[in-house]
Amino acid sequence: MNGLTITINFFYIISAVLFIFGLKMLSSPATARKGNLISALGMLLAIVVTLLNSGLDYKWIVLGMVIGSIIGLFAAYKVQMTSMPEMVALFNGFGGIASMLLAWSEFHQHPEISVFIAVVTFLSALIGGVTFSGSMVAFGKLSEIIPGKAVVFKGQHLVNGAILLAALAGGTIFAMNPAEYYSAFILIIIVALLFGVTSVIPIGGADMPVVISLLNSYSGIAACAAGFVIHNNILIVAGALVGASGIILTKIMCKAMNRSLANVLFSGFGSTVATQAAGSGPQGEVKPATAEDVYYILEAADTVAIVPGYGLAVAQAQHVVRELGDLLEENGTEVMYAIHPVAGRMPGHMNVLLAEANVSYDQLIEMDDINPKMDTVDVCVVIGANDVVNPAALDDESSPIYGMPIIETHRAKTVIVLKRSMNPGFAGIQNALFFSPNARMYFGDAKASIQNLVGEFKSSD
Ligand code: TAP
Repeated sequence: MNGLTITINFFYIISAVLFIFGLKMLSSPATARKGNLISALGMLLAIVVTLLNSGLDYKWIVLGMVIGSIIGLFAAYKVQMTSMPEMVALFNGFGGIASMLLAWSEFHQHPEISVFIAVVTFLSALIGGVTFSGSMVAFGKLSEIIPGKAVVFKGQHLVNGAILLAALAGGTIFAMNPAEYYSAFILIIIVALLFGVTSVIPIGGADMPVVISLLNSYSGIAACAAGFVIHNNILIVAGALVGASGIILTKIMCKAMNRSLANVLFSGFGSTVATQAAGSGPQGEVKPATAEDVYYILEAADTVAIVPGYGLAVAQAQHVVRELGDLLEENGTEVMYAIHPVAGRMPGHMNVLLAEANVSYDQLIEMDDINPKMDTVDVCVVIGANDVVNPAALDDESSPIYGMPIIETHRAKTVIVLKRSMNPGFAGIQNALFFSPNARMYFGDAKASIQNLVGEFKSSD
């Protein structure tokens, strides 16, 4: 090993340490921004150090960096918070295809490789290809370019099993004699791209964020394999970190929805929910409330728990929610924000929105911490949340969300629900909470509704 290689690997270790500390800090809202910065610093160091390698053709690298930076900057400024899962899907897909192309290019230039390198080349192409086409399907579903529902057909598992077997058989033949079997490698790429499509189409709308997280993990594993192909230590480490954190996040999301990963991947959940919704959901009379009614209820409350959901993101109501929270506190009310782990459409969605509005981290209470004291809460204000407060998850065994932990707002003294209509949420099922005796429905766009409430508080001064 020459001096330059030792220096490069030394800085790679520093990069890896920065990645690990950055990831650790991302696990708490209080340190997440710093964690992101530290990880980005690690990546910058890794890129700069990699560019010290000899024999590089800088003109292509600079061209790639310029184009990539422009797209990244554009996406960061233009993409709405609610479209984040689509953007992550695209990024995962590009990561996957980059690993696949890297493996292909290396093999194309040096077909005489050892069995080990052949195996990692195969893995990089297979997992990278699946990640790319799977992510494109996920992107299409989330952005409604293609139908978001689960597409299921008879014998689907058999077809997918056969495709996977074909890929593994191709991989075995390829690894035994790579130089002879260029055609097997091309076949692996085609099969991988096909498998990405056939394995993601049976997954329905509400489960897409879980799939995105899983594909994120795949993109890391593909990058890790690509790191072995080109003997790049930081690519191996970074890929392994992405692969591991993606799978941990996938597991957390499945647990919060009380589903197994196998159930998410193979049950065709989104294809069956619509039929259940059309049937016999909870019925009854709802009690609508005006801004003035809600004002009087809130004005008299000692404790208020605000429960945000996807509708908060749609309405972009986070800033007015904070304003309302501040007014309530000025009025002597204790204000908490109850956060469900899968509220919204992506992990940490509510935390990010509330952080954007500078809501203090101390006021964010996790589901498991708020539920035990729910009986003592005077008023729960449910803002654009539906599935995550649906009591059917606790007591209706026939419900598709049965078993999912919820924020038990129905146990508070009064519940005020802000939404535009009686339409169901993501899971497509009606919510018995809206008909419960302690619930009042405050209909309208969440931002406008809260603005009216803020107006009521201000005019009463
Ligand atoms: P949902 O159950 O989707 O309900 C959102 C509600 O917001 C809707 O009922 C909608 O009713 C209302 N809404 C929409 N726009 C609004 C606006 N402008 N103003 C006021 N209300 C508005 O959301 P949730 O309770 O946050 O649950 C999340 C769902 O996504 C769960 O089913 C969860 O399993 C699923 N999911 C989440 C994740 C992650 S990681 N977050 C991952 C996988 C799946 P109206 O149309 O009547 O207004």
